[in-house]
Amino acid sequence: MVCLGNICRSPLAEGILRQKAQQNNINLFIDSAGTSNYHIGENPDNRTISNAKKHEVDISDLRARQFSVSDFDEFDTIFVMDSSNYADVIAQARNMTDKNKVEMILNRVYPNTNMSVPDPYFGGEQGFENVYILLDKACEIIIESIKQY
Ligand code: 4NP
Repeated sequence: MVCLGNICRSPLAEGILRQKAQQNNINLFIDSAGTSNYHIGENPDNRTISNAKKHEVDISDLRARQFSVSDFDEFDTIFVMDSSNYADVIAQARNMTDKNKVEMILNRVYPNTNMSVPDPYFGGEQGFENVYILLDKACEIIIESIKQY
């Protein structure tokens, strides 16, 4: 799960997907990262932690890190939150195999629309709730698609 700072959207996506994987007894290796170095080592934004807690998802222990090229080797799928994250990650791809791993996460909910998860950082609490609703839907669909295997 990749966003810009790794303190708002992607840690929430990581927490939600991890919770759904556990609830479904699916063993997944899940992590998140930011394309920027702005918040390396920090816990998620307090507003994200509170919002997640409201939905019984605990992400308080996560620490921000920066996306790196080796993530293409570690992960089968790289979900990005917005079109700017997409461009930043694709720019680091070494080949088509890397590129094909990168997906806009909301394309799982609204196929082929390339919609972005809005950045809630500079807004109010409703923005965080909106992000939760979008990511919860996307993660539910991701889990369902894995169950088909
Ligand atoms: P995120 O949100 O990419 O969802 O973690 C942001 C966090 C920090 C900043 C921007 C977006 N920032 O400019 O510091």
